[in-house]
Amino acid sequence: MTIGAAAKAVGQWLADLKPRAAVVLGSGLAALAEKVDQRRALPYRDIPGFPIPTVAGHGGELVAGHLEGVPVLLQSGRFHLYEGHAPDIAALPIRVFADLGIETIVLTNAAGGLKPTMRPPALMLIADHLNFMFRNPLLGPVAPGEQRFPDMSASYDPGLRQLARDVALAGGIPLDEGAYAGLLGPSYETPAEIRMLQRLGADAVGMSTVPETIAARARGLRVLGISTITNLAAGISPTPLSHHEVVAAGKAVGERLERLVRGVLRGL
Ligand code: HPA
Repeated sequence: MTIGAAAKAVGQWLADLKPRAAVVLGSGLAALAEKVDQRRALPYRDIPGFPIPTVAGHGGELVAGHLEGVPVLLQSGRFHLYEGHAPDIAALPIRVFADLGIETIVLTNAAGGLKPTMRPPALMLIADHLNFMFRNPLLGPVAPGEQRFPDMSASYDPGLRQLARDVALAGGIPLDEGAYAGLLGPSYETPAEIRMLQRLGADAVGMSTVPETIAARARGLRVLGISTITNLAAGISPTPLSHHEVVAAGKAVGERLERLVRGVLRGL
């Protein structure tokens, strides 16, 4: 019901524009939404069922237009479980994008790095995830158009990952690759939790993305995930973690992320 009403509102606003991809912007990464050509914005308050984001560094609007000549829809401001939202609210925009016929989703986020070799601010291609939120947007009745038991063995599309690697190589953009662990937050992790996550195969840790990827896969959408490694994780970082640092680092690597996303859009 909510999905249909939201998709109707967004579809009417898009009118003739048929976005080839939707890009979800993480903490400190909203600048890209200012750079689209023929830019139009739809505030969340005009979309039925969309909450108003509460986090500094997260906007609250959908932006439509063109990047590299490709029609795109950008989500500036996402819904996190730590704000008290249910997983299906975190995933609501993805389901709306699917209803609108968008087949490619680019998820960006800010994350802490678990490999001591990472030098923040840096970019990491998400190869896979670990759901340490222990919540799932697919709980309950099967939503229309979704699978009950979606396969998650290639959730972050291998073809899109190869495209991202090619763009990074051609553009001289350093790009790490690894597994993203999604935690509930909002407190950052303890050093003991980070040691645990390292042993369990995580390369980055954050508080988003996982519910969105799960919903996207249930709809059969192609997902590209890119983490901005804004800091080394707790216990690896010599300094205490702060949201301010995360937002500042996101901005510092924004230009590289923008080039990467533009290159990927060109290659779709
Ligand atoms: N942990 C969790 N989420 C984050 C971090 C972190 O270190 N950095 C940015 N988002």
